[in-house]
Amino acid sequence: MNVLIIGGGGREHAIAYKVKQSIRVKRIFCTPGNAGIFKICEPVPVRADDYSGLAKFAAENNIGLTIVGPEVPLCAGIVNEFHNRNLQIFGPDKKGAQLEGSKVFAKQFMEKYGIPTADFECFTDQEKALAYIDRKGAPLVVKADGLAAGKGVIVCKTNEEAKKAVKLIMEDKAFGEAGKQLLIEDMLYGEEASILALTDGKTIVALEPSQDHKAVYDDDQGPNTGGMGAYSPAPVVTPGIMEKVNRKVLQPALEGLKNERMDFHGVLYAGLMIQDGKINVLEFNVRFGDPETQAVLSRLKTDFVDLCLATAKGTLNSIELKWDARPAVCVVTASGGYPGKYHKHLPISGIENAEENKDVFVFHSGTDLRHGEVVTNGGRVLGVTALGNDLSDAIEKVYEAVEKIHFDQMHFRWDIGAKALK
Ligand code: AMP
Ligand code: GLY
Repeated sequence: MNVLIIGGGGREHAIAYKVKQSIRVKRIFCTPGNAGIFKICEPVPVRADDYSGLAKFAAENNIGLTIVGPEVPLCAGIVNEFHNRNLQIFGPDKKGAQLEGSKVFAKQFMEKYGIPTADFECFTDQEKALAYIDRKGAPLVVKADGLAAGKGVIVCKTNEEAKKAVKLIMEDKAFGEAGKQLLIEDMLYGEEASILALTDGKTIVALEPSQDHKAVYDDDQGPNTGGMGAYSPAPVVTPGIMEKVNRKVLQPALEGLKNERMDFHGVLYAGLMIQDGKINVLEFNVRFGDPETQAVLSRLKTDFVDLCLATAKGTLNSIELKWDARPAVCVVTASGGYPGKYHKHLPISGIENAEENKDVFVFHSGTDLRHGEVVTNGGRVLGVTALGNDLSDAIEKVYEAVEKIHFDQMHFRWDIGAKALK
């Protein structure tokens, strides 16, 4: 069978790496890809955002499974295009993707199906939003409704900050159309964790829990990024918490997917806040997390293609998940200036050196090949990932590997996984 992967980040490199391990697979294609991905996959002569063109390519090239990484194609309806041609694809349809594409839709879904989440109110009118802030009082979290590449969430400690956030979204239109609607929700406290669950619309099964590190600097300081590192498992998700996640989040969400007639064959990712044994959902995503996937899939022993195909075909209940008990830690090395402005096309050295340890994998995020040389091509550049006998061992191995890699102005967090050691 041939497999097509859509996307070009660290998540997709990890997906390609797992697909490559499957004995069922002949050829693997990817678009738009990156330097690491193209060591495993063949390029596709179709633009990554030409969804009907990609479906045509899949039909003509014997693609038995397409796996979609990012949210943008899912929200645009790539799955609908593929289903129109009777092609197997991993991901929700356009309607299901609204759980990520519209925060208002997701909150109303949570409310309707009794999924625990912060109290909230939705607004299309700026004056009403500002009046609500006066009435309710900070701390509050202001969120643009639509996709904003992870930047549309503003955590506000004072009323002034919250009002500024509303103006930024509605008046200055900082996130364009994504800010036509916004929601204001209560601030939650605690520790965050990511639950990536697979569902075929009939069965829902959680993968091993993980934790992301969103802030750019150590100790969760500085602005939010796409994610500076992750580890799995996340001990904050105890067996008791996992039981609650299943009962209060995943099962009700599955009921909702069925009830709302969503064609959902992919990942439902619940971003959780956990405090004193209580859980709340911060957000739903409809795809694998990045960089959580690099850590989680490094531990997966079940054939990944079997798993994705069963999810796409609706036979997920027949699959048994097997895990490597060893923890995995992924450290993202980023470009100088990220998450603000940064330079591209800087040469990267030391990747092969770092991978000499058989428990280390360097997943490429923002890289490109120029004149045969691997260069930077994004804010998040590499996801250096290591398995260890225990978490301390994984942390030691991953930083040993990171220190062998170099590009000009490279930066990374030194405390990935540290929370779990406490
Ligand atoms: P989201 O995209 O909704 O996950 O929000 C991005 C980040 O903002 C989350 O990972 C949290 O760190 C933070 N956040 C979102 N909603 C809340 C909330 N209600 N209370 C506290 N922090 C939040
Ligand atoms: N790591 C956060 C996300 O994938 O949205």
